[in-house]
Amino acid sequence: KNDTYILGIETSCDETAVAIVKNGKEMVANAVASQIDSHKRFGGVVPEVASRHHVEQITCVLEEAFLQANMTWEQIDAIAVTEGPGLVGALLIGVNTAKALAFAKQKPLIGVHHIAGHIYANRFDREFAFPLLALIVSGGHTELVLMNDHGSYTLIGETRDDAAGEAYDKVARTLDLPYPGGPQIDQLATEGAETINFPRAWLEDDSFDFSFSGLKSSVINTIHNASQRGESLKKEDIAASFQASVVDVLTTKTWKAAQAYNVQQVIVAGGVAANQGLRQALEEKFQNSGMPLLIPPLKLCTDNAAMIAAAGFVSYEQGNRAGWDLNANPSLIL
Ligand code: KG4
Ligand code: ZN
Repeated sequence: KNDTYILGIETSCDETAVAIVKNGKEMVANAVASQIDSHKRFGGVVPEVASRHHVEQITCVLEEAFLQANMTWEQIDAIAVTEGPGLVGALLIGVNTAKALAFAKQKPLIGVHHIAGHIYANRFDREFAFPLLALIVSGGHTELVLMNDHGSYTLIGETRDDAAGEAYDKVARTLDLPYPGGPQIDQLATEGAETINFPRAWLEDDSFDFSFSGLKSSVINTIHNASQRGESLKKEDIAASFQASVVDVLTTKTWKAAQAYNVQQVIVAGGVAANQGLRQALEEKFQNSGMPLLIPPLKLCTDNAAMIAAAGFVSYEQGNRAGWDLNANPSLIL
């Protein structure tokens, strides 16, 4: 038997997901149950609500994955699960499900870092070339990571305050847009113009770190000051101006880091990688640069289990196995 099938499980935030992936790069099944509708009325993810939904959903989602794949447990080689970072109660559902299944079905168990998963969402039907630079932009993370090989991660920059997705969600809230705000602002931005010059946090000259809290405050102050003057700004223009600032910083810093480390490939990962403005700006920047740019298809940008299975495959091949003491770790380091 030459093919390796990994079953992946992801429950770190508000998506309950199970997937089956062949040889780390072929999608066989990808089942996702989103809880967005349950969290919308609270304006964000409520951890306790998330955990309860995961418990309710996980068995159905698992069944759905096997239905999609038309496979049986005998064909599965190992189970990979997100062990962190994320919401501890949410992570625990995935970890304990994976442990119970690994024990009952006698399969090896592999713990996966959520960000490694986001990175490996880029490997479907294509191959990585090292050294590789990864820009990870999600609700909880904004990081530049250098990879010299599979499974090897060096952090070269990160946010000092808010994550990019978090800034999107907070600005969206001040504009009275429903959660999650990223896609909403992305859409509004296409209907507006950059009429406001919001700040860009470049930080020190040689820094690959990010900062988005100043931008967020600037947006809030601008809206507030305008309303005090009895003016009202167009939401579309605020969205376009805010997005221009975020995209400018992300694109410029990624470009500089790619040059500084002379990488073979640049990849983008995480929920904000779904942003049309960011995708377009990065594509323009890296076009004709000789550095290939990989961005996952939209449904693999946000949380899913296929990416966890893909990262789990590499770890499996490297001989990593988790013991029965595998535990949820909300602040797991990459
Ligand atoms: O990767 P993800 O699903 O979950 C985390 O690991 O955080 O990312 C979710 C984040 C949210 O903040 C959401 O607003 C943002 O990704 N997001 C977007 C877009 N789609 C999702 N942000 C900007 N533009 C989008 N199109
Ligand atoms: Zn994520």
